[in-house]
Amino acid sequence: MAQNIYDNPEFFAGYSTLPRQVHGLDGAPEWPAIRAMLPTLTGKRVADLGCGFGWASRWMRAQGAASVLGLDLSQNMISRAKADTSDPAIDYRTADLETLELPEAAFDLVYSALTFHYVEDFQRLTRMIHKALVLGGALVFTIEHPIFMAAAHPHWIADVDGRKTWPVNGYSIEGERRTDWFAKGVLKYHRTLGTTLNTLIDAGFGLRRIEEFAPTREQIEHSPELAEELERPMMLLVSVQKTEVR
Ligand SMILES: C[S@@+](CC[C@H](N)C(=O)[O-])C[C@H]1O[C@@H](n2cnc3c(N)ncnc32)[C@H](O)[C@@H]1O
Repeated sequence: MAQNIYDNPEFFAGYSTLPRQVHGLDGAPEWPAIRAMLPTLTGKRVADLGCGFGWASRWMRAQGAASVLGLDLSQNMISRAKADTSDPAIDYRTADLETLELPEAAFDLVYSALTFHYVEDFQRLTRMIHKALVLGGALVFTIEHPIFMAAAHPHWIADVDGRKTWPVNGYSIEGERRTDWFAKGVLKYHRTLGTTLNTLIDAGFGLRRIEEFAPTREQIEHSPELAEELERPMMLLVSVQKTEVR
């Protein structure tokens, strides 16, 4: 059973104050880079895995998606997503991605933002998603970058010439990582970049685009705190396509 930290009241209260939850997709600096990786949405059947408050689900529909299935482990998240949505073509449900089974060839796009690093069995998940997509369908997702995950974030260890330095510990030791972020002992799973991409390839996906998100100069001028993200990548953005039927 996955850790359901988003249903912890203390965690949820803190998380709800993040700019990306207050302002939605425009509050996420990586959103323009993600948007550039998405296929045309007109008429597409979409699954949004770890949909949270439903910001992306609603955006997909506004871009012309035929339907969106928004799934999340947290009842808090699903309740909030339902409260903020009045669109019968978006169906929100609670589900655990560790055990989820989607119908075969029922989706044109599977999307997921900052959720897969909470899932222990990435191999099972990617194979299941591959089956759920039509041939030519896309999987576009973001995760915490493995370098960021491996570092003892958010603690920097030294200030060298005015630049903070972070350690990267045990990069090649995959598995559980615990962090204190709005609550103690938040559980995530570290996988190297190689494991992440090879798991997708082995599931039958072709790589389309990989971005190690870094803020633009304009973004840093607007929000100077983003400069920190030039020191080590915080997010990995991945777009893959179902290129073969298994
Ligand atoms: C960082 S939030 C991202 C939410 C949303 N995608 C966004 O970008 O605003 C991660 C989400 O993943 C969900 N989650 C974590 N583990 C999960 C699991 N095993 N199955 C389904 N959802 C999960 C959490 O409840 C939370 O809503």
